[in-house]
Amino acid sequence: MCGIVGYIGSKNSAEVIYNGLEKLEYRGYDSAGIAVISDNIIQTRRSVGKLKNLKSNLDLNPISGNIGIGHTRWATHGKPSEENAHPHTDCSGKIVVVHNGIIENYVSIKKQLISEGHKFKSETDTEVVAHLIEKYYKNDILKAVKSALKEVRGAYALAVICADEPDKVIVARYDAPLVIAKGKNENFIASDVSALLNYARDVIFLENGDICEIKKDTINIFNQDVEVKRETQKILWDAIQAEKCGYKHFMLKEIYEQAQTIQDTFRGRLSSEKNVITLDDINITEEFLKEISRIYIIACGTSYHAGLTAKFLFESLASIPTEVDIASEFRYRDYVIDSKSLVIFISQSGETADTLAALRIAKQKGSKTLAICNVVGSSISREADNILYTHCGPEIGVASTKAFTGQLTVLYLLALDFATKLNTISKEKLDLLVKELWDLPVKVTECLKQSGRIEKIAKEFHLKNQFIYLARNINYPIALEGALKLKEISYIYAEGYAAGEMKHGPIALIDETMPVMVIATKSKVYEKVLSNIEEAKARGAKIIAVINANDKEISKKADYQIVVPEVDEFFSPLINVIPLQFFAYYVATMRGCDVDQPRNLAKSVTVE
Ligand code: AGP
Repeated sequence: MCGIVGYIGSKNSAEVIYNGLEKLEYRGYDSAGIAVISDNIIQTRRSVGKLKNLKSNLDLNPISGNIGIGHTRWATHGKPSEENAHPHTDCSGKIVVVHNGIIENYVSIKKQLISEGHKFKSETDTEVVAHLIEKYYKNDILKAVKSALKEVRGAYALAVICADEPDKVIVARYDAPLVIAKGKNENFIASDVSALLNYARDVIFLENGDICEIKKDTINIFNQDVEVKRETQKILWDAIQAEKCGYKHFMLKEIYEQAQTIQDTFRGRLSSEKNVITLDDINITEEFLKEISRIYIIACGTSYHAGLTAKFLFESLASIPTEVDIASEFRYRDYVIDSKSLVIFISQSGETADTLAALRIAKQKGSKTLAICNVVGSSISREADNILYTHCGPEIGVASTKAFTGQLTVLYLLALDFATKLNTISKEKLDLLVKELWDLPVKVTECLKQSGRIEKIAKEFHLKNQFIYLARNINYPIALEGALKLKEISYIYAEGYAAGEMKHGPIALIDETMPVMVIATKSKVYEKVLSNIEEAKARGAKIIAVINANDKEISKKADYQIVVPEVDEFFSPLINVIPLQFFAYYVATMRGCDVDQPRNLAKSVTVE
């Protein structure tokens, strides 16, 4: 995920910024750059790849100055390249900008600015901000930033410097974090406090809508043109805690990030005004969809579970027959795919060997391919005909959490887009589902508040050696995913089953030693799940049920309840998976397991 560092004071800013960027390396990036002002001239150095490339560039072509901004870029708009690396400049080269987030309306702004004579040098959404500020600049950079941001929609953490005003950095925040650290006659900014801990520990976390003028000895913050005060906090974390934003493990941090990453993933693809889904990045037309024979979804592990969930979406919403296959099986199967098939590959890393091999096979067969990946520029994202990125930022915990809900978010958008193009969804249903999509981050936040309750339940069960997860229909893949999470990080033997399949064998496993986790939220199979719970209880199993508030029946039968907010059944997998992620996490930590790097597992499986 992108990182920002900035400095104003009397030190060599390039050095301070470089050191800060190094501390953000763990977030993942594909290029980096620094701009400083010296003698009213902006000097910029940018390099593709690791920070050491930027270092060599700086060693060969040193820059220095007491004010500067820097950035590590995790590509979203435009490939990783020097032209697309930040900082970005306006036409005059006097205004430079670094940015984290996504400018949703950059296409229309860019069109307008080009028609007014602005010349663009990159493919990024960020560059429009530099030109927009230039448009409004009349010897007052703070005023120009304020005016520019009135036109911008989306998420941003921004830092701006101007050659003609070398005594200030302007920063702004909306839906992307930004922190200011106060020194003595110097101030620092960063997207993440870990970049600044070696320099200062008194920090101000900016709030949404804040625009701030930072000089070496003053900080003035404005919100909606009114000057505001923000509290200063002392950060006591060590460097490792800071990387994890104070969480004990990356996995826990990533579970908590999900409200944001889901929003970031649908941002710019879902318009609030007209309930329109815009997937500009792909070329899957109405004509192709009208002739489509079948969708195949190919993936491994957690990504496969996202695919299994999507089968319900494509079939119910868009009436397209859908098959889901494990990549390592698909490779050696006699499949029937042709130019009328759409083959979707889901991969967080974009490097999974089996998924990549399956993609190559599908391409050879002449079918249309679409990849859903989290890592920009990864092999799968480069080789597929179409790519939709999840905007989750780097996932560091080996057990996938936020990438999974990001994948589901993209799949919801895709299914709704196909349904709209094929006219298989009524306007009322579409409006309802789009509204629920918008509300998902709030619902996820509600769900995250259950962590304390789940931790208590985990305490009761963490010494068990086996577990069964049950669910039906669209939540069946979530039973598989919940069991996979528990297996991966706690080393407890856990299996997910379709609850209706129990009586065909697995029920023989059930006695009073077997805990059973059941997904039992409101759905068309609610009554059926209730019967399956009765069957398990009759054999002595202890039941933990994920239910909705004001549940009347299952709450009485279950030994332990985890309450999650009610959503349309289509979105219930995305909500219901969160308590299962927490449960696996707490059980594993109570067993003393290495949650972020479980034994025998790798984050990216690049061998067959
Ligand atoms: C998930 O928790 C796993 N670590 C694993 O199953 C993973 O989902 C699988 O290896 C696929 O990885 P990918 O999404 O990067 O292709």
